[in-house]
Amino acid sequence: MTARFFEGLILAMESSCDETSVALIRGHEVLTNVVASQIELHQKWGGVVPEAASRAHVQAFLPTMQEALDGAGLALGDVDAIAVSNRPGLVGALSVGVTAAKALTLALDRPLIGIHHLDGHLSSPLSVAPDLPFPHLSLVVSGGHTELVEVLEPGGYRILAETRDDAAGEAFDKGARLMGLGYPGGRQIQERALSGDPKRYRLPRAMAKDDTSFSFSGLKTAMLRLVEAEGPHLDIPDAAASLQEAIVDALAKRVRSVLEAHAPQALTLVGGVAANHALRRRLADLSAQHGVRFVVPPFDLCTDNAAMIGLAASVRLARGEHDGLSLDVFPSAPLPTVEST
Ligand code: KG4
Ligand code: ZN
Repeated sequence: MTARFFEGLILAMESSCDETSVALIRGHEVLTNVVASQIELHQKWGGVVPEAASRAHVQAFLPTMQEALDGAGLALGDVDAIAVSNRPGLVGALSVGVTAAKALTLALDRPLIGIHHLDGHLSSPLSVAPDLPFPHLSLVVSGGHTELVEVLEPGGYRILAETRDDAAGEAFDKGARLMGLGYPGGRQIQERALSGDPKRYRLPRAMAKDDTSFSFSGLKTAMLRLVEAEGPHLDIPDAAASLQEAIVDALAKRVRSVLEAHAPQALTLVGGVAANHALRRRLADLSAQHGVRFVVPPFDLCTDNAAMIGLAASVRLARGEHDGLSLDVFPSAPLPTVEST
């Protein structure tokens, strides 16, 4: 089975955390995807401050939407449907996008659809692989999630393994903070790791004992001990490389056992941590060894963006799904299962 796509023009919005993003999608094609990042705003606090995030979304929304329309040479009157991430995320931040989406729905008299943020990440590979076969396997790794998911049909999921504590992105972010590298940590660690020796510091492989979970809290504690023990002698590139290797090893080991058990038709890697070069390389090699097709979205569709929300919406709108003006926001929400789609 492959996905079917909505043929009209979708205006998609994402504001669940610290990026305001607006995209225009037709079918599986991303016409524009504009992201206004709040990274600089939150950097001084070392993490996302929800109140500040909501306010920044309000300020950024209209200029971001205008830039998206201008980039595609289109006007609001050309839009056939409106998609917005409405769960899970920071409620204040989500409310900005959902309120804007409802206002546009009323003004344009077009259908509205609310999208689960992870349904968005999981749909991002469709931008480069519209023929992706279903079912397939996906590793979702972001700042809030670490899950191995069986994608049974377009938009219908079953979780095979999830984290018991921190997400992979949090392991990067917390490690970076301990080393004084700033927020968000994943990219900082990746850059420092380029000149580092991944074998220099021995760190645990962040594995839970059972097959159905990941665990990164032991790794965080080990990093804290390492930073305290080495003090000013800590070699930052070597520590960054060692941390990155520990996270990649833990993720790859679990993926390997699922590839062996399930022999999927394809493997996708999605979420902010999918931007990590070492992880992309490792999973590409692993997939090649198992004769499995590997698909990873382009870098700008890994970290939070509205194009992925539009892609998930395209699949749902093609099936006739949509929501009403009572659409609500939810701080936490289960991934759509096959039964509920
Ligand atoms: O998907 P995302 O943008 O937001 C959430 O939904 O959480 O993911 C953000 C996470 C952060 O933890 C960030 O440090 C991590 O993705 N990240 C990376 C890289 N770029 C972003 N982690 C490792 N290597 C990267 N290049
Ligand atoms: Zn995300």
